Amino acid sequence: MSGAAESATAPPRDRLARDRKAEHIRLALDAGNQSAHSFFDDYAFEHRALPEINLADIDVSVDFLGKRLEAPILVSCMTGGTEAAGEINRNLAEAAERCLIAIGVGSQRKALEDPLQASTFQVRDLAPSVPLLANLGAVQLNYGYGIEECRAAVEMIGADALALHLNVLQEAIQPEGQTDFSGLLPKMGSIAAQLEVPVIAKEIGCGISGRTARALLEQGIRIIDTAGLGGTSWARIEARRAGDVEIGERFADWGIPTPVCIRDVASVEGLTVIGSGGIRSGVDTAKAIALGANLVGMAFPLLAPATDSADAVVEKVERIVDELRIAMLSVGVRTIDELRRVELGKRSER
Ligand code: FNR
Repeated sequence: MSGAAESATAPPRDRLARDRKAEHIRLALDAGNQSAHSFFDDYAFEHRALPEINLADIDVSVDFLGKRLEAPILVSCMTGGTEAAGEINRNLAEAAERCLIAIGVGSQRKALEDPLQASTFQVRDLAPSVPLLANLGAVQLNYGYGIEECRAAVEMIGADALALHLNVLQEAIQPEGQTDFSGLLPKMGSIAAQLEVPVIAKEIGCGISGRTARALLEQGIRIIDTAGLGGTSWARIEARRAGDVEIGERFADWGIPTPVCIRDVASVEGLTVIGSGGIRSGVDTAKAIALGANLVGMAFPLLAPATDSADAVVEKVERIVDELRIAMLSVGVRTIDELRRVELGKRSER
């Protein structure tokens, strides 16, 4: 638990942190640590037998952080800090550049504490023209971090934005978790006011509600990544690490389903919405956009390909984009803007 004294037999904290990175990758690759339910399956489009458009005319490009993306996709923040993680980041970055999609790196806390690790996050040379997101845990703002560390994280990788992740359930279950989440909102606002690049608030699998999004907007944070329930379960992953499967199962269903988050957050005027948490296909992508997302984020689907090669990641992304285009043809829309205006019903209503 946070702040607990280390016993003489406990592994030192830096080893715990190093092992944590490797264990996160190993456990995140295990499909048994995914949510049991895909909430996007509960929704369906009205199929249009006569869409009256040409597949070749469909344009899935969008603008994000002042750059043009060829598809409305972000490689969600995942990793860094070990040799294997560096390889994953390089494969993801090369693929993101080839596909012209956005990419984030994992929490840079360890690299701020140990500059030797910085190179495992530094992928700008491989992804010169796409939006690149730096990443830190928002809770760090209660453990000594402030504007200097946020700036250093951005400068370390030449980022276009800083994603501050909100991971209350993960920290609470993690044996070495940091659990003082008091007074974070104004601290996040202060970072957003001072930082030279935009701040993104993201969850990691339990979702952000409309109410929380509104509070963040009032603090000047205009980009929200929902990371809702329905994909990677950090309750399960941290419970397995803690050797306490029971607590993981107790909280495995905890959170706001991603489609609900997206609809709710998109109803708040003035926000850019990244729909993420359980997006697994181009069909899920189309549904997330119809619910109000501007683009989607994916972690789990790209992790296994990234342990292989940049080619494998490109192949996966191209497949998802093909599915998105087929979905758009079948509902009769040419652009992402038009797709955002399509009505998406509960499957039982179709
Ligand atoms: C993550 N995620 C994550 N998020 C973050 O903000 N900082 C981080 O360091 C990490 N680390 C991390 C490692 C690994 C191996 C995975 C798979 C994921 C969370 C990620 O960005 C995303 O929000 C969730 O995984 C939900 O998306 P998926 O996996 O359901 O598509």
